[in-house]
Amino acid sequence: MALTTSPKKRSDLLCELAPDVERLYNRHLEAPRLWYPHEQINWGDGENFADSPWEPSQYPLNEGVRSAIYVNLLTEDNLPYYTHTLLSHAPTGHAILDWNHQWTMEENRHAMVMRDWVHISRCIDPTLLEDGRRVQMKKGEVPQPADMAELIAYVSFQERATQIAHRNTGAKLPKDDKIGRNVLALIAGDETKHFLFYRDLTLAAFAIDPSTMMIAVAKQVRDFAMPGTGIPSFTRHAVRIAREGIYGLQQYLRDVLEPVLGLWDLDHLVGLSAEAEKARQDLSEFVAKLGEGVERMTQKAARVTPALST
Ligand SMILES: [Fe+2]
Ligand SMILES: [Fe+2]
Repeated sequence: MALTTSPKKRSDLLCELAPDVERLYNRHLEAPRLWYPHEQINWGDGENFADSPWEPSQYPLNEGVRSAIYVNLLTEDNLPYYTHTLLSHAPTGHAILDWNHQWTMEENRHAMVMRDWVHISRCIDPTLLEDGRRVQMKKGEVPQPADMAELIAYVSFQERATQIAHRNTGAKLPKDDKIGRNVLALIAGDETKHFLFYRDLTLAAFAIDPSTMMIAVAKQVRDFAMPGTGIPSFTRHAVRIAREGIYGLQQYLRDVLEPVLGLWDLDHLVGLSAEAEKARQDLSEFVAKLGEGVERMTQKAARVTPALST
């Protein structure tokens, strides 16, 4: 008879994860990414908006790419609320608290450097951006995972998703905007390191309590959405971003879910409770259905594209 591990209480899991948090935090610190936001910008390219109001023609760009810059930057702006959520799961004296402070320090430079580049390059409308920032930040809306198991699963997916979104947005910028491409690559590099921390912390949590983690991961995969529900006209922007091939269901499946779930090797987990077995089955069916949907979308796009290009 297979042994079934009983799900642990939230506090037990966090307590047992402490050595892994310390190990992964130390690994993170051993490969520091020291870069200065002020050094990334060519300040002499800037102009006063009072003398030269913003016009789209100053930086020609597809609307999907503009939407991606707008949503990605506003998401970075929402950092105080992400930090607040993370800290609410971090008891005093636990290594996760030190990690959260490091994470916040690194995340904070993303909005700074992006906004500097946006204002100097004029790639998106600065008035629309500031209006969006005010509306979003007054709401303070961010996902609220129920416990540590859900939190580390959610943040694993989110860090990977933001890495992909920044990377793909950078690739869509004009070749001669070397500063913009570099800024987004630097941010994507930070997100990669954050992703590795959470991905491997979740892996360690699977070794401690596979049933709890299986249920948490299945729930987060099913419910996951790119952060940004507080952004004005978020759905319209999300559709444009997906159409542009920057981030949508296809990227969620191929670049986020498949590599992350594959690394966690969920198919070979043993000792799951009946509820966790059901969650694993539900997850597998969900991913298969998502795959069918993405395949249908890809085929539809292939039928439409030749017609558009003629
Ligand atoms: Fe970030
Ligand atoms: Fe990050």
